[in-house]
Amino acid sequence: MGAYPITDHFYDVVVVGAGGAGLRATFGMAEKGLKTACLSKVFPTRSHTVAAQGGISAALGNMGEDNWRFHMYDTVKGSDWLGDQDAIEYMCREAIPAIIELEHYGVPFSRTAEGKIYQRAFGGMTTHFGKGQAQRTCAAADRTGHAMLHTLYQQALRCHAEFFIEYFALDLIMDDEGACRGVIALDMAEGTLHRFRAHRTVLATGGYGRAYFSATSAHTCTGDGGGMVLRAGLPLQDLEFVQFHPTGIYGSGCLITEGARGEGGFLTNKDGERFMERYAPNAKDLASRDVVSRAMTMEIRDGRGVGEHGDHIHLHLEHLGAEVLNERLPGISESAKIFAGVDVTKQPIPVIPTVHYNMGGIPTNYHGEVVTLKNGNPDSVVEGLMAIGEAACVSVHGANRLGSNSLLDLVVFGRAAAKRCAATVQSGSAHKPLAESFSEPALTRLDKLRNSNGGSSTAQIRLNMQRVMQRDAAVFRTGETLAEGVADISKVYQSFSDVKVTDRSLIWNSDLLETLELDNLRGQAVVAMNSAANRQESRGAHAREDFPNRDDENWMKHTAAWLDNDTGAVKIDYRPVHMYTLTDEAEVVPPKPRVY
Ligand code: FUM
Repeated sequence: MGAYPITDHFYDVVVVGAGGAGLRATFGMAEKGLKTACLSKVFPTRSHTVAAQGGISAALGNMGEDNWRFHMYDTVKGSDWLGDQDAIEYMCREAIPAIIELEHYGVPFSRTAEGKIYQRAFGGMTTHFGKGQAQRTCAAADRTGHAMLHTLYQQALRCHAEFFIEYFALDLIMDDEGACRGVIALDMAEGTLHRFRAHRTVLATGGYGRAYFSATSAHTCTGDGGGMVLRAGLPLQDLEFVQFHPTGIYGSGCLITEGARGEGGFLTNKDGERFMERYAPNAKDLASRDVVSRAMTMEIRDGRGVGEHGDHIHLHLEHLGAEVLNERLPGISESAKIFAGVDVTKQPIPVIPTVHYNMGGIPTNYHGEVVTLKNGNPDSVVEGLMAIGEAACVSVHGANRLGSNSLLDLVVFGRAAAKRCAATVQSGSAHKPLAESFSEPALTRLDKLRNSNGGSSTAQIRLNMQRVMQRDAAVFRTGETLAEGVADISKVYQSFSDVKVTDRSLIWNSDLLETLELDNLRGQAVVAMNSAANRQESRGAHAREDFPNRDDENWMKHTAAWLDNDTGAVKIDYRPVHMYTLTDEAEVVPPKPRVY
């Protein structure tokens, strides 16, 4: 591969991705004195976290009684008992100091009349273990992600973290003992290749929402970390669990925050009925997302959808009044105008469940260290490799994530990863010698893709993949649709060998970059479909019409799936759910029926 000169860089830690998790980790590591590089394929403040609207959960109790144990209970229940309870305890407890820190770093949260952080209601968030309604979601109007991302980037710069912006990470550098020694990246502007050596490589690359046709995710959400992990021969966990957000704008997929229902908005069908009262008599429109998305889908299927084709639902905010809408929901008022032509003070917003979040991802422990099932040990750590944020599956969201637990996951586990690195990495310690051969797989793949000269465009293969995922890995699934999905996604996977890249340049070559992204997406699409076909029960976001009940006896376990990158064949095993807590201040939440 002499045709590709490489520039070497040496760091204590390299973080890939500059969204909320990546920036929190980068800044925390740099603050602790570690020489830290952060690689990002977009300018950091354009990362997808910028689009997060409604807020970040923490049991601060600013707007009524609250307790992190209530938050833990809600999160376990929301996860449909697939979440790891040690990690959930950690997240809910650490939420409180992590948010106070954010406030001190400068996040401009909205305020109560007494000047405390404003908190709104979100789905599935209760007090007293399901009895009351919690106001737990800390908000900066409906632009919370934007506020956080800018603050974290400024803090990272203050701590002298080094940014490599518009660098596309190609592949992990794995040695012959299975340890990660860094990452190879392409500087997209210069067309040059870079080898980042690091004692820890932290993947904070976000989800793979763009495997679907319609998603709230940015076009950059192509699961680049997950793709690299699959190519490194490591498993991904629980990819069958894909969250549909109830309120994507019909037609565009643009997000309308759950905070809209938290402020008092509600859904109606074509008869003007508030149908959620039938499906979730207590929580109603603030049941958890899987429940609301299924209810909306059933209303539409039963002929009670709104609009000319009866294929969507109405979200009403008119009754909230212009003052509340301007103060608390200005961003979505603007989005509704632009993307649906609706004045929210007068008209309902047309909405439909839209792909929003991947509960599954790269399996990790609560320190952010990647785990695999080496020698039958389901918690064996992969040396040198960490993952955080949506790219990871720690697993605090299990089978269904509660709204506003995502921004929390980013911050808590970005911070945890920084603490872990500070405790385990000696700043400035020497890097082991690295054989050239460990970098070859990345360069060979780049060379092959760059020179691909088949008969199918990247855009056509991507569209085929997105259509299959949208059709068969949907809100409701059956054995039949999943079998069809497995066959069709496998064909799409294999059709990639016929891809054509028209531009051979390495400089700003969007054709090549989109092909690299598609290579990452296709692996996760095939793993998600196979994992869904294998799981014969309904749990959280995985709703099987042929297996309508949760089956704890046989299926309370995480899927671990490996990909044969040449053929697209998927091998599946399972690892146990952590039904234990970290401390005796928390109690395990035993499984029970999940009603809202
Ligand atoms: O609805 C929302 O504002 C999204 C929040 C989340 O996914 O956590």
